[in-house]
Amino acid sequence: MARFRVGIIGMGTVAHTHVKALKKIDDVSIAAIADIKDKSELDIPEGAEYCSDYRTMIDEVKPDAVHICLPHYLHAEAAEYAASHGVSILCEKPVAMNAEQAEIMSTFQDKYGVTVAVCMQNRWNRTFRHLMEAVESGSDGRLLGLKAVALWARDKGYYEKAPWRGRMETAGGGCLINQAVHTLDQVIQLGGNVKTVKGIVTNVLDLGITVEDSSVSEIVFENGARALIMASNANIVNSTIEIEAVFEKSIYTIKDYKLYKAPAADPLDKSLVVSDDLMEGEKSYYGAGHVMLIREFYSHLRGDGGKVISVRDASRVIKLIDLIRLSSNEGRCVEWR
Ligand SMILES: NC(=O)c1ccc[n+]([C@@H]2O[C@H](COP(=O)([O-])OP(=O)(O)OC[C@H]3O[C@@H](n4cnc5c(N)ncnc54)[C@H](O)[C@@H]3O)[C@@H](O)[C@H]2O)c1
Repeated sequence: MARFRVGIIGMGTVAHTHVKALKKIDDVSIAAIADIKDKSELDIPEGAEYCSDYRTMIDEVKPDAVHICLPHYLHAEAAEYAASHGVSILCEKPVAMNAEQAEIMSTFQDKYGVTVAVCMQNRWNRTFRHLMEAVESGSDGRLLGLKAVALWARDKGYYEKAPWRGRMETAGGGCLINQAVHTLDQVIQLGGNVKTVKGIVTNVLDLGITVEDSSVSEIVFENGARALIMASNANIVNSTIEIEAVFEKSIYTIKDYKLYKAPAADPLDKSLVVSDDLMEGEKSYYGAGHVMLIREFYSHLRGDGGKVISVRDASRVIKLIDLIRLSSNEGRCVEWR
């Protein structure tokens, strides 16, 4: 019998990426899935039990861990139910709808004595890890600034397929919290402590949604570096994420899943540093990080030192998004407090 019996809560789009990753780990089996949709509408992994209520699944199947792949507004309540029943959690991003809810979720790990980790798989991208090393080593001089561009395409069909995605009350936001959350997270990992935030959130397309489809923002870091971030779901295609990091001596660019480096004095003299692994299939723009992140989660549960992203760590980007929205609503620069 597998060492870890896993339950998946919410068997929708992203859950299939979790299933593929879980199948690659020897001592893990998917014991059950829970979804409010009828069994006939779902693609249930072989050997997994179906439950229409995640509470019943937790009570009766008693999984060792659950993967929460639910709409954003259900993350907190499902996490509390699982944690309070002694079940460890891997929760999809965004960890919560806002910083206040994330703060409450950050108490579950200690309160209930389980692991609560967040799925921010892009932190495992090889390109990003190399860029982080460049920041940490200081070998390219001081980081002066960052540019990040996350332009994806989400049409009416995307919101019609799962209406929760287009509503503030159920998604907590649009392109910032749902799509660009990984890129924003990487920017603040690279830049460090945030001092101020100024931003605009708006809608370019008329899709009848109450969440934003576009945003431009500027972050100023305590170390003096600044970042310009452009995010939109109004693009024609899902373009690959671009991050540019300007140091005193060098300029690094992540583009098309590759990291390039050029001397600051000659930005066009780029050389390839490293490439990311690519995920196969139509969701390749998710990146290949789910497999690595999920492996680390189970390595952590085994006590083998796997690295996980805590709720508190994943909450920083949620606070940033709250502040971009506040800045946009009030038309002013806001301080990180
Ligand atoms: N890490 C990534 O790159 C990535 C990519 C895509 C989605 N996500 C995240 O995954 C989560 C799910 O997104 P999605 O696009 O798969 O959504 P989805 O709408 O495709 O799937 C959600 C599933 O949850 C089910 N569900 C709804 N309410 C339920 C309840 N009370 N109990 C049980 N099941 C219920 C729905 O029936 C549906 O099957 C979101 O938080 C999203 O941001 C992360």
